[in-house]
Amino acid sequence: MSYSAGVDVGSTQTKAVIINEKRQIVGRALIDTGANVTAAAEKAFRLALEESQLGDEEVEYVIGTGYGRYKVTFGNKQVTEISCHGRGAVHMFPSTRTVIDMGGQDSKAIRVSPKGEIVDFCMNDKCAAGTGRFLGAAAVALAIPLSELGATALTAEKPVRISTTCTVFAESEVLSWLGKGKKVEDILWGVHQSIAARSIGLLRRVGVDDEITFTGGVAKNIGMIRALEDGLGKKINVSEDSHFMGALGAALFAMDHIAASRKPHAAAP
Ligand SMILES: Nc1ncnc2c1ncn2[C@@H]1O[C@H](COP(=O)(O)OP(=O)(O)OP(=O)(O)O)[C@@H](O)[C@H]1O
Ligand SMILES: [Mg+2]
Repeated sequence: MSYSAGVDVGSTQTKAVIINEKRQIVGRALIDTGANVTAAAEKAFRLALEESQLGDEEVEYVIGTGYGRYKVTFGNKQVTEISCHGRGAVHMFPSTRTVIDMGGQDSKAIRVSPKGEIVDFCMNDKCAAGTGRFLGAAAVALAIPLSELGATALTAEKPVRISTTCTVFAESEVLSWLGKGKKVEDILWGVHQSIAARSIGLLRRVGVDDEITFTGGVAKNIGMIRALEDGLGKKINVSEDSHFMGALGAALFAMDHIAASRKPHAAAP
């Protein structure tokens, strides 16, 4: 049995996935990236190896992706996260034609072909609005754990309209609504709606007519899933492994490399 791995070193979290030649996930790991990016890449890979009960020599090809992909020093190749999220999403949901990746630092809308190749993509600018960091700022201001943000937002009855698009000002706007006596859940749903609206803007630029798959860590947030679906007026695909989609895509590209290297060479004329 052959094995390959993908290590997605994101600005916020590092994900590693190991797959077998049937392209099934046999090990995975998720850790905070922190200040030492190289160490995070190594640790995530080691934890995924432990889960798969494989030795590192058994993993034939490793691809690094994400903003820290060049820090995957033990990797054989690097591939951009746009390509990897597209590939992972089409593998998981074959009818996917548009991908929305919401990570810690930025959001990306990606248009893919039926084979998972990138047709077009669009990113929000370097301002952290529209991303996990914006949600993180709201979580801190409202003293709610990140993992409960979405569920809390879904209990809103009278949503507040958040007007700022900047993380720096989001915190003060959230605090000012609290000061005006607004309920935490009503403010939070407003935050989710404002992020969803901006992400839908990105999606519309690449096209939203077909199946949409939501990837990245923010896909763990059920409030964001609902806000996107409400705004789009349609269901979107979300998998338990959405957070690992970039790492999975990288592992799939790595398995393609292994498979191609095994093909018998055409006989010389
Ligand atoms: N359990 C959870 N519930 C809600 N949100 C979560 C959860 N886990 C992670 N997140 C969100 O996911 C974000 C991290 O996502 P991800 O790992 O995709 O980002 P990244 O790849 O590091 O960033 P980028 O792609 O922007 O460089 C966090 O900032 C957080 O907002
Ligand atoms: Mg990412």
